[in-house]
Amino acid sequence: MKPVSVTVRVPAKVNVQLAVGAARPDGFHDLANVFLAVGLHDEVTVTPADALRVTCSGPDADQVPLDRTNLAARAALALAERYGRDPAVHLHIAKDIPVAGGMAGGSADGAAALLACDTLWGTGASRAELLDICAELGSDVPFSLVGGAALGTGRGEKLTPLEVGGTFHWVFALADGGLSTPAVFREFDRLAEESGREIPEPMPSDPLLAALAKGDPHALAATVSNDLQPAALSLRPSLAATLAAGREAGALTALVSGSGPTTAFLAPDAPSATKIAEALTGVCRTVRTTTAPAPGATVV
Ligand code: C5P
Repeated sequence: MKPVSVTVRVPAKVNVQLAVGAARPDGFHDLANVFLAVGLHDEVTVTPADALRVTCSGPDADQVPLDRTNLAARAALALAERYGRDPAVHLHIAKDIPVAGGMAGGSADGAAALLACDTLWGTGASRAELLDICAELGSDVPFSLVGGAALGTGRGEKLTPLEVGGTFHWVFALADGGLSTPAVFREFDRLAEESGREIPEPMPSDPLLAALAKGDPHALAATVSNDLQPAALSLRPSLAATLAAGREAGALTALVSGSGPTTAFLAPDAPSATKIAEALTGVCRTVRTTTAPAPGATVV
């Protein structure tokens, strides 16, 4: 019997390395992007309906577009088109990942909707075909499907899975209002031009990959980097105080998550994470404590 509805749980991500190259002719940037899936999740439920419809619940639901610009809707349409299905479904997003926060929340919903519709429709699509559709939807969408940890090259969509040898404890400080990813990349370009410095080709950091493989938070803290951080701080200077507050409270390292404005703090262990979270309460809108790695999009 065909399922009447399918729910998929999908994680957020933090980039422990985000090396950004010069703008390409197509406007994208080549990346060496080390994704780590973390335990903040959205859930997307797909149910047959009269027409394609998106709804959203959660604290930030009012900031989520419910039209066909939503990546969940675009995923359903892309899959329906490729496999000759009727995209008449209701997609409900139970949103816990910050919106426009630099944690791939929109991409997560795209990957989750794709897997949910694929399961509902029984298309028989291979993993490679699903990953292809993910890459068409956006640079971060393939990673939301696979989870764990992976190196993303090209514009971030070409993935190589990475080994992770332990559990990392993270604290995330959610900011008021989001940052637009294209705006942060534009600011990156502007700052690069202003500095007049040559932008090196983005390369993954071997010590960082070794730290991940070992599961060593101290070594990971010593090697994290985010080339978008100066651009995010330039557009949102108040993030500097949040980063400083987390460092003072014992974070091994503090960085902007992806294009921001969420900030990420790596803790040596769970009690330290709790302490950092307590210190950040009041400094930012909301604080969340979680662990990594987390599995990718999964039918629940
Ligand atoms: O791939 P996605 O649609 O998620 O990217 C959103 C925007 O982020 C792009 O339109 C582009 O401005 C910027 N971007 C970029 N280089 C990348 C990924 C994204 O410039 N590798």
